[in-house]
Amino acid sequence: MRQSSRSKVAPFIVMDVMEQARVLENSGKNIVHMEVGQPSSPALSHARSKVVSAISSETLGYTVALGLPELRRKISLLYGKWYNIDLDPRRVIITSGSSAAFILSFISLFEAGDKVGVTEPGYPSYQQILKSLSINPVGLQTSKNTQHIPKLEGNNLNGVIIASPANPTGSILSKGSLTSLVNECVDREISFISDEIYHGLHYDLPCTSALEISDNVYVINSFSKYFAMTGWRIGWMVVPDSHVRLIERLAQNLFICAPHISQVAALGALKSISEAETLKGIYKVNRDLLLNALPKLGLELEAEPDGGFYLYLNVSSKTNDSLALAQDILVNAGVAVTPGIDFDSKRGNTTLRLSFARGTDEISEGIDRLTRYFSEL
Ligand SMILES: Cc1ncc(COP(=O)(O)O)c(C=O)c1O
Repeated sequence: MRQSSRSKVAPFIVMDVMEQARVLENSGKNIVHMEVGQPSSPALSHARSKVVSAISSETLGYTVALGLPELRRKISLLYGKWYNIDLDPRRVIITSGSSAAFILSFISLFEAGDKVGVTEPGYPSYQQILKSLSINPVGLQTSKNTQHIPKLEGNNLNGVIIASPANPTGSILSKGSLTSLVNECVDREISFISDEIYHGLHYDLPCTSALEISDNVYVINSFSKYFAMTGWRIGWMVVPDSHVRLIERLAQNLFICAPHISQVAALGALKSISEAETLKGIYKVNRDLLLNALPKLGLELEAEPDGGFYLYLNVSSKTNDSLALAQDILVNAGVAVTPGIDFDSKRGNTTLRLSFARGTDEISEGIDRLTRYFSEL
């Protein structure tokens, strides 16, 4: 049977690495997981207890397409606490993770053939989702020298998607830099999408929401990272008032609603912020352990890890084939890591991403294994 050309997207390499790690684990090998950006801890305690009681007492059928009104309201209150913004809950839309919010955003904002700027390095699925919708991603190269701030001019863009803190770099755009980017986009009618999935996970610098700068933007967020709920597939987006009905019609038809049980869990998670902060404390310890180990490993940072839970490393002194290096580290050191080509097709052959979202014991073991591996390389 025919396969459409727009369906021929590149694999999400980190998911392939996860699968290879699983096969090795099934054959009895112990693997330290520093590949995927997900906490090893379960959902926060109020999330779990709410789910247990809802399962025995509620039908859990479809919810309305925009999500449980109570959850939308509680999320709008978070904007008050985090950014001092008075956000109308009507503008908050519950989605199946930020991934579903990308699909809704790209369809609502762009025509087939439009050009959307994405940073390189950057989260790879933006490009592949855009391609699958016949929208053209335009790589905006960023580097340590320019504090990973993308330049928009000269690309004739219809839109841009920016994450701060970013994946894989962990870099945070200062409020000034984000303000310049948002204002440039609003002035030039370039649709601005702010992926704020790593908000809450900032160590040295504060995170700025694009909503602090303008209401004329899309903001996407998720319960996956700060709230440690990757597998629950629950997130949200905030859109201008005039776009709510547009997104509602798309969401009704594309998804019906986000999983009801996960919406219940999300309501609980919002009551467990202090637990989320404890987890963040663990990531900070892990980050500092890794940063201290870098000289021993003989590796350098490609970016300052201001937030999120990744180190993006320059491995040009070891290889110009990051995929082969990551495979070798997995098989011979028993550490799963992600090759940079997942995030940057042009320069990612000399970079690796390490995730430090697991427990500190596992990260320490990973550091020991990597130290042995690189000392023998
Ligand atoms: C920058 C970024 N955005 C979005 C996602 C996907 O998140 P979700 O689990 O909410 O779909 C990830 C996952 O790693 C990510 O790194």
